[in-house]
Amino acid sequence: MPSKLKLLQLGVLSLSVAAGSSPDACADITVVLGPSLIKSSGPQYNATATELPWNLFNSVDSPTCIVYPKTSGHVQSAMRVIFLRDSRYAVIAGGHASMRGYNSITDGVLISFESMQNVSYDAETGLVTLQPGVHWGDAVTYLESFGVTAVGARSADIGMGLLLGGGISFLSPQYGWASDAIQAIDLVLVDGRLVTATATNQFRDLFQAAKGGANRFGIATRYVVESVHTGTKAEKNWFGGTLVLSGMYNEIVNNATARFVRENTDPKAILLLIQDGLSPTGPAANILFLYYNGASLPASVFNTFLSLQPNATSSSFSAVSYAELVTMTAANERGNGQNFGAASFIGSEATFARGFNQLANFTDAFGAQLASFNTIVSVIPRSQWIASAQRGPNAIGDPGKAYAAMNYYAVYPAGQTTQNKTVKEGFELMLEQLQYPENKGLPLYINECDASQAVYASYPSFSKLKATYAKYDPTRFNVRNMKGPLGL
Ligand SMILES: Cc1cc2nc3c(=O)[nH]c(=O)nc-3n(C[C@H](O)[C@H](O)[C@H](O)COP(=O)(O)OP(=O)(O)OC[C@H]3O[C@@H](n4cnc5c(N)ncnc54)[C@H](O)[C@@H]3O)c2cc1C
Ligand SMILES: *[C@@H]1O[C@H](CO)[C@@H](O)[C@H](O)[C@H]1NC(C)=O
Ligand SMILES: *[C@@H]1O[C@H](CO)[C@@H](O)[C@H](O)[C@H]1NC(C)=O
Ligand SMILES: *[C@@H]1O[C@H](CO)[C@@H](O)[C@H](O)[C@H]1NC(C)=O
Ligand SMILES: *[C@@H]1O[C@H](CO)[C@@H](O)[C@H](O)[C@H]1NC(C)=O
Ligand SMILES: *[C@@H]1O[C@H](CO)[C@@H](O)[C@H](O)[C@H]1NC(C)=O
Repeated sequence: MPSKLKLLQLGVLSLSVAAGSSPDACADITVVLGPSLIKSSGPQYNATATELPWNLFNSVDSPTCIVYPKTSGHVQSAMRVIFLRDSRYAVIAGGHASMRGYNSITDGVLISFESMQNVSYDAETGLVTLQPGVHWGDAVTYLESFGVTAVGARSADIGMGLLLGGGISFLSPQYGWASDAIQAIDLVLVDGRLVTATATNQFRDLFQAAKGGANRFGIATRYVVESVHTGTKAEKNWFGGTLVLSGMYNEIVNNATARFVRENTDPKAILLLIQDGLSPTGPAANILFLYYNGASLPASVFNTFLSLQPNATSSSFSAVSYAELVTMTAANERGNGQNFGAASFIGSEATFARGFNQLANFTDAFGAQLASFNTIVSVIPRSQWIASAQRGPNAIGDPGKAYAAMNYYAVYPAGQTTQNKTVKEGFELMLEQLQYPENKGLPLYINECDASQAVYASYPSFSKLKATYAKYDPTRFNVRNMKGPLGL
């Protein structure tokens, strides 16, 4: 491996070469970028390593060094060294990855995008340019002054990593997955090359892979996305809120949700359900978020839910703007270890009942070890895939059916930095048990998956994705040197 020669070709003259070491990689990056963009200790290092990861289990890592790029060129320089040193590494943007090890690292280089948080909007082209460190709340608040937005997260604190995993937005039933809005993406490949991938240029296979392939296909340094007209703050073009129902209504809520998944064809209608597994009979067992991109909640769509309003523990509905909708839930609380796991369900009452029993079964066995345990139901209607197809293929692939993305979500007690092994194994077993035969062929949502799940293999477009990975990372550097979803 003539790595010394490669370094010389790259103009990095004064470095000695010994592969496989992150301290050496950090020393080399310091030489190349200068000491101001890289930290191995101190307040900035501490803030990134311990406060940026939303999952407490990821905040206990100690990266050998943290790189704070300001440009794509800085990322290229760091990546060249990481590649030539065969160093382990990780990337952090908004910090919301739930998966253990996906956004920080011990004995490796961490690249943090805290110094790349610019958003800009070009009214002439209608395009929004997002740097990789932007949080969605800042993006939607800025863009709302122009009456537009970018299709993105349903909570403010989430970062741009969402775009690489697909991205479920309140706008998705109308405009597709958040990643479908990408028009161009700058990616630093494993060997340090910078490419701009679009739907029509020589990197169109990479472009497709980046839209849902998560962190395996390069480091994104710029996203150019189409804007969507949502109106200004004063226009308040959305209506909705929450309806909270006690555990007495579990079965009715599950049935109504299954039916909504199966039957709703109005892309302006949003249903999001959080079901509490830890107090399944408690007063807040079902939190329904009902929203409509219009002046009211149409009875034809929401009647089953609205008829439960007299029985609700609480309910509140009002007119809101799109940015208000997104910033209503910050989701920025840190301090708990977290586990996400994914299933996908067809809109069948029997399937939802079975999933609910699975939630209850896990709670019976392990609830005492957890602070909370929920299922979060996101509806993926046919309209989302139809809007997606109009924007060109993504990494996931259309399963041809309406379904729900089910997120099983365990929160450990505050401050507990280690996962209980028995609970972890029970969680993984539950995720296997949740893959019911009637849901075969439905993709799992990668941004809500557990590290144990073979999520890529669930993609209808899996074989194409695998081939694209082999083309752009022929030595499988990313699979070897960074944590990420299984199966490429
Ligand atoms: C409370 C909460 C609410 C959520 N709400 C939603 C929602 O409404 N809709 C939805 O679709 N998802 C949602 N998610 C899931 C969310 O999409 C993922 O957690 C997403 O990965 C977060 O991106 P991030 O930038 O905040 O996180 P990070 O942890 O910084 O990044 C996530 C992953 O992407 C990688 N990555 C990030 N940026 C880059 C880059 N520039 N180049 C290469 N790799 C990169 C990271 O290494 C990491 O593996 C939510 C998650 C949480 C915890
Ligand atoms: C960083 O965190 C470590 C470990 O918690 C601590 O010992 C150190 O004093 C902190 N440094 C700064 C500059 O905050
Ligand atoms: C940052 O965004 C502003 C508008 O918000 C824009 O004027 C400026 O050109 C952008 N800068 C970079 C470096 O992208
Ligand atoms: C829920 O749906 C199932 C299957 O259709 C049905 O048997 C059951 O009675 C329903 N429960 C309620 C409370 O409506
Ligand atoms: C881990 O969880 C199991 C199962 O609930 C429990 O019996 C055990 O005491 C827990 N272990 C620790 C160290 O908390
Ligand atoms: C219920 O949970 C236990 C503990 O993890 C597990 O052994 C069992 O298989 C589960 N039962 C069902 C029906 O999923």
